Amino acid sequence: MGVMLPQDFSKLEIIGEGKTKIVRRMDNPELVLLEFKDAITALDGEKKDTITGKGHINARISGFLFEFLSKEGVPTHYVSFIEPKYMVVKRLKMLPVEVVCRNIAAGSFAKRYPVEAGSRLKHPVVEYYLKDDLRHDPMMNEDHMVVLGILSSIEEVNEIKRLTLTVNKALSKFLDDKGITLVDFKLEFGRDRNGRIYVGDEINGDSMRLWDKRTGRILDKDVYRQGKNLSEVLETYRECYRRIIGEEPRV
Ligand SMILES: Nc1ncnc2c1ncn2[C@@H]1O[C@H](COP(=O)(O)OP(=O)(O)OP(=O)(O)O)[C@@H](O)[C@H]1O
Ligand SMILES: [Mg+2]
Repeated sequence: MGVMLPQDFSKLEIIGEGKTKIVRRMDNPELVLLEFKDAITALDGEKKDTITGKGHINARISGFLFEFLSKEGVPTHYVSFIEPKYMVVKRLKMLPVEVVCRNIAAGSFAKRYPVEAGSRLKHPVVEYYLKDDLRHDPMMNEDHMVVLGILSSIEEVNEIKRLTLTVNKALSKFLDDKGITLVDFKLEFGRDRNGRIYVGDEINGDSMRLWDKRTGRILDKDVYRQGKNLSEVLETYRECYRRIIGEEPRV
């Protein structure tokens, strides 16, 4: 076995880019390369910074958790993780929906509804938001998604809800064993060429709220939303990595 050379993916054509990831074309048309940037954003992109090493940490955590979920039988886009900050994934046509699943009242849920922030909900709550910046991502119900043509039928809506609750159950248990409470998380779904639905995008401290079970310490992007300094934010992502991966991060 020869030594693996670091691969130069910068020549691969960019076919999509968002605030925190770049999508590149691969030789196999059924795959794409996701590159995780060191960018961190909040407040619809109004607040923006760079944290060196954050891309690596988030790519590795995503790869790790997608691998776990695939083993649990969840259809995900995950194919492989490539050091330091890449994931090879199935190329999907992404649905313009953010599916949020909540176990504990926090964030916008605690603001909008008469519940005590931090209280456990009687059962998980699944919410759907239209990805539409100009309209500030309005919340949708099941009927909206069918009427707007995002999903073809109520059966497909149910499939997405069922997948989300399966992810919640598996991830909650996995994290609980590591002393972490899964407060809430966001999933994005997409279809392959055959119309099959997969969990896509990312799963990490940018897309989950994670609290230390014992101390309540926040282990996710909320520390950045709260305006903590960037070294504290990096340390939070490092601690998230340590707790989930079980190794010392190398950044
Ligand atoms: N398997 C996949 N196939 C194709 N595109 C994907 C896949 N997984 C994620 N993407 C896309 O990668 C893009 C970049 O992700 P990023 O999180 O940076 O976007 P964003 O800033 O959240 O903005 P937006 O999601 O609105 O484009 C997103 O458009 C996302 O939908
Ligand atoms: Mg995103």
